[in-house]
Amino acid sequence: MKSISVFQLNDGSKIPAIGFGVFQIPNDGATYDAVLNALEVGYRHIDTAVAYFNEEEVGKAIKDSGIPRNEIWVTSKMWLQDYDYVDAKQAIERSLTKLGLEYIDLYLLHQPYGKLAEAWKAMVEAKAAGKIRSIGVSNMTPKIWTKWQQQGLFDDVLPSVNQVEYNPYFQQKELRQLMADNQVTLEAWGPLGQGNSELFSEPLLQSIAAKYDKNVGKVILRFEHQEGMIIFPKSVRKERMQSNLDIFDFQLTSDEMDGIRGLDRGQGRHNPDAPGVQEMLLQAFDVHKNE
Ligand SMILES: NC(=O)c1ccc[n+]([C@@H]2O[C@H](COP(=O)([O-])OP(=O)(O)OC[C@H]3O[C@@H](n4cnc5c(N)ncnc54)[C@H](OP(=O)(O)O)[C@@H]3O)[C@@H](O)[C@H]2O)c1
Repeated sequence: MKSISVFQLNDGSKIPAIGFGVFQIPNDGATYDAVLNALEVGYRHIDTAVAYFNEEEVGKAIKDSGIPRNEIWVTSKMWLQDYDYVDAKQAIERSLTKLGLEYIDLYLLHQPYGKLAEAWKAMVEAKAAGKIRSIGVSNMTPKIWTKWQQQGLFDDVLPSVNQVEYNPYFQQKELRQLMADNQVTLEAWGPLGQGNSELFSEPLLQSIAAKYDKNVGKVILRFEHQEGMIIFPKSVRKERMQSNLDIFDFQLTSDEMDGIRGLDRGQGRHNPDAPGVQEMLLQAFDVHKNE
């Protein structure tokens, strides 16, 4: 099996630089199959969340894979509804139970709204208790990060990662500088632009792909990897899982990197700063609906 490169986080943990995302894969057996296939082709990092409703299948696939626990990095995320301190503690326990794990490698506050200080306290305590190895945030824009940092949220424990939307059309230049200044690693969600066909048709990406005899997906992911992003493309197709992982046998030149940097449009599909996002998300995902 080829080795996957790792990045070191600010708490010393080493995270596989590429993983497998399971957003929107149903919990009808499809997530189980996808994760088992992903582990079989060589992924050792799975990115799930309470709000994906598929933690149980992720955990079952990990168990049935027979791969030692300490060889797989597992990320999950607390949903907005659970940010009260007591709820947050319970949410962490529920994730551990659903995943069937004794510890979670990385747990994130999925959305940057509401009682973040209470939820962060529960996360810090779970980390100290060894239930979570690394803790982080997600969807924090420069504006949101700065607001919470000024309020002292991260005075005791700094997030290890900020997981945000990122692809060649949305390269998060301001946020990347801010996170670098704070020694926080960025993770890219939607690294393939969530399958955006316009992105896959970009002439520049197609010509680079032709030069290296690779597909466009590999060129996008290779670019992001060389930019230092942690990436976890999602696919339910085994041949794409394999292809997306197999990006370590070629290297883009600095001119090619600059060319792809030029595709940046400075905005993505989701704007966490927009008014009403918290309410929209709470309506869209009710993680307690079946209780
Ligand atoms: N923190 C957050 O708020 C947040 C938000 C969104 C996502 N995420 C995380 O980020 C992960 C990745 O993002 P994502 O799933 O939204 O989108 P993505 O990985 O950018 O794109 C997935 C889409 O691209 C297609 N695809 C995969 N490989 C391809 C290839 N080589 N060529 C062409 N198309 C390809 C997939 O289709 P097939 O499945 O049919 O192959 C799927 O439609 C998620 O699974 C989740 O873990 C986090």
